[in-house]
Amino acid sequence: MPKTNTQFVCAECGYTSPKWLGRCPDCGKFNTLAEEVLSPAPAGKKTARPALSAKPLPLSQVKFEKFERVSSGISELDVVLGGGIVRGSLVLVGGDPGVGKSTLLTEVAAHLAKEHKVLYLSAEESCSQVKLRCERLGLDSDDLLLLNETCIENAEESIAEAEYVVIDSIQAVYTETLSSAAGSVGQVRECASKLMRIAKSRGITFFIVGHVTKEGTLAGPKVLEHIMDAVLYFEGERTENFKILRAVKNRFGSVQEVGVFEMTGEGIFGLADYSALFLSDSRGLAAGAVVTPSETGNRCMMVEIQTLMAKTNYGLPRRMSLGVDLNRLIVLVAVLEKRCGLALGMQDIYLNAMGGIRLNEPSADLAVCAALASAEKMIPVEKYTAVFGEVGLTGEVRGVNFAEKRVNECLKMGFKRVILPAKNMKSCEKFKDKIELVPVAYVSQMIKALF
Ligand SMILES: Nc1ncnc2c1ncn2[C@@H]1O[C@H](COP(=O)(O)OP(=O)(O)OP(=O)(O)O)[C@@H](O)[C@H]1O
Ligand SMILES: [Mg+2]
Repeated sequence: MPKTNTQFVCAECGYTSPKWLGRCPDCGKFNTLAEEVLSPAPAGKKTARPALSAKPLPLSQVKFEKFERVSSGISELDVVLGGGIVRGSLVLVGGDPGVGKSTLLTEVAAHLAKEHKVLYLSAEESCSQVKLRCERLGLDSDDLLLLNETCIENAEESIAEAEYVVIDSIQAVYTETLSSAAGSVGQVRECASKLMRIAKSRGITFFIVGHVTKEGTLAGPKVLEHIMDAVLYFEGERTENFKILRAVKNRFGSVQEVGVFEMTGEGIFGLADYSALFLSDSRGLAAGAVVTPSETGNRCMMVEIQTLMAKTNYGLPRRMSLGVDLNRLIVLVAVLEKRCGLALGMQDIYLNAMGGIRLNEPSADLAVCAALASAEKMIPVEKYTAVFGEVGLTGEVRGVNFAEKRVNECLKMGFKRVILPAKNMKSCEKFKDKIELVPVAYVSQMIKALF
């Protein structure tokens, strides 16, 4: 192995040091030094200068590059990728331990192996473990190539021969050029750029598994996400059967798409009929539960928001939220107290969006308010009533986007009544005959309309 010179560079200020230091002497930050190769260009091989013909072209003369798309065999994954796998792209799949990253990619690899040359590079599990999983999932792709290797240089030859490569995972492989341990920032960055060079020069498609940190972001340097063509997050409570695949970056499609999967012992299945998943059976019976049409990705789904109130035993009431931003909940509680006169100050409040889904959009505000009001008044909200709208600090209900789509989804799911922002009423007039529309301009109006 040729000796390579490396140095340690501080990620914060760029300070360089010949050896690793726990604290950067320049900026004083801890644990920011990562190893880098000093001379990454291979010795004795001059990189060719681009030919002189590389002239800028006017936009009108630029030819379209046709992106060939291949189905992954899992329709939900194709949707998230923007219509299929693009040849020569790098796709990063991140997710919590045990969420099913390896399972998903084994299925994809097995499907692709029927027609293409696919290599599954498993750095975390032995080949027999992968085979065991294939058998459990009932995958009969005898031509799928398995390789148990952690050193990128050793695997390079096999990678170059394949059309599709799954790397499980980028944190478990290492390159010989760096002396730091596999999974360190420098190693992950170097391995990823090595794979990118292979992908772009040979047109090999890569699926790369990435670990996430305790905070839920992808472990390793941010540059890892920059290198990739698509970054997908596989989410979902580990105890829940269904998982959500979300694109956070996609160079060949929208990042608005989500895929819903069900995880069983026999494998992972895309769920086309996901709408009723996020609703409970006790809807309409217990106080504190309200359904809202949520626009997650390009899809609209009905999500139930449940709240529970209990008298606080300590001076400081507790607020807990799963699926809705906690700060958002605290603001809405204050709005309800001040603008609608609800006494929530001495109540512990727990809020949960059903099914482990995350509601990031402001249109869920009004439904959260409705759920809180229902819990406070101990009156259940009628089963076939849905609520959506954004709530401002003055207690006004503001219009939201995709109002028509939301009302349409309510209609499709058999709801009979929708409480919506008055500002969105105009665009939804056409549904007036099919479903009862209740426009509201203030939160207090919504409470009056509900109870
Ligand atoms: N024998 C089994 N029967 C049913 N379900 C199983 C079985 N073995 C594993 N699973 C399911 O598969 C999940 C693990 O999937 P997988 O190994 O793909 O996760 P992962 O995201 O790759 O995890 P890691 O980060 O540890 O590699 C488990 O959480 C479990 O739900
Ligand atoms: Mg795994």
